[in-house]
Amino acid sequence: MSLPKRQTITKVLFRPYYVIVLVVSTALFCGVSWLAEKTAPQTGPLPPPSPPAAQPPISTELVLVGDVLREQLRRRPRHEVSRKGPEPFFTDFAADYLGGIITNASPTYQDKTIVSFAGIPIFYETPNSPSIMLHRSVHKLNETDHWKMDGRGGNFSIALHEPTIIHSFGYRHVNVTDVHPAPAHFTFAVRSNRHESPHRVGRWVYNATVGGLQRFYLEKPITAQFVDVRVLSNHGDPDYTSMFRFFVFGERDSRSFMELY
Ligand SMILES: *[C@@H]1O[C@H](CO)[C@@H](O)[C@H](O)[C@H]1NC(C)=O
Ligand SMILES: *[C@@H]1O[C@H](CO)[C@@H](O)[C@H](O)[C@H]1NC(C)=O
Ligand SMILES: *[C@@H]1O[C@H](CO)[C@@H](O)[C@H](O)[C@H]1NC(C)=O
Ligand SMILES: *[C@@H]1O[C@H](CO)[C@@H](O)[C@H](O)[C@H]1NC(C)=O
Repeated sequence: MSLPKRQTITKVLFRPYYVIVLVVSTALFCGVSWLAEKTAPQTGPLPPPSPPAAQPPISTELVLVGDVLREQLRRRPRHEVSRKGPEPFFTDFAADYLGGIITNASPTYQDKTIVSFAGIPIFYETPNSPSIMLHRSVHKLNETDHWKMDGRGGNFSIALHEPTIIHSFGYRHVNVTDVHPAPAHFTFAVRSNRHESPHRVGRWVYNATVGGLQRFYLEKPITAQFVDVRVLSNHGDPDYTSMFRFFVFGERDSRSFMELY
């Protein structure tokens, strides 16, 4: 009886699954205590704070904001800065040294200006050609640096060197006592190529009483290479209209510039 009982106890004690449970629980205990040791708060010196100064003190931040703004302002492209100004600065692309040329113009007034010496007429002065309107410099104009357009009005066309984004036109008259030959009403038309029919962009008046340079702004910039100007009237001279300097202000159209070159 006793033997089988002992056998039974041994059998019970050493049943394989008890062994398995024992081994597994031991392993678990060891693992948990190892983990606990690993995650326990460390008492040694703290590691240096990670990511450098994610949130700097308020005062430093304010100073930095100021610096960053100035930097951005300094780094902004020049054209962007100038556009913020009260008067944007654009280039005159009609200037002859930039390739602007008069392609056609209405007749020139043939005034019999006689150059005489001691009362004896020597020769007739040749009148200025319309291209004088595109000559520079504009600030040292003589009263005679003008083209005399025959009659109370007329036409002329300008070919720019390349397609240009036009913002405004300008006309500069020299302040002379006789304002009657000064142009009054203008119309402007533009073409993107020589053979296109002109697209009229506006009508303006030059105020001869004010004189000087006056600018005529387009409603919105337009890209064109040819400009057709029609002077509808002058300030009262029945014989001729005097034209000093004409300007086409704009920006280079980088898109067509790329196509050209
Ligand atoms: C035009 O101006 C130039 C200098 O700018 C001067 O030498 C010349 O005499 C002037 N001509 C007339 C007609 O006033
Ligand atoms: C100006 O051009 C218009 C057409 O655009 C024409 O009818 C007119 O006769 C021209 N004037 C002169 C003086 O050439
Ligand atoms: C030209 O300007 C003057 C002075 O500003 C003004 O009195 C006059 O009415 C203007 N003339 C025209 C036609 O706009
Ligand atoms: C004369 O021309 C200048 C620009 O060159 C202009 O500012 C000025 O108002 C004009 N003066 C008169 C009296 O027309």
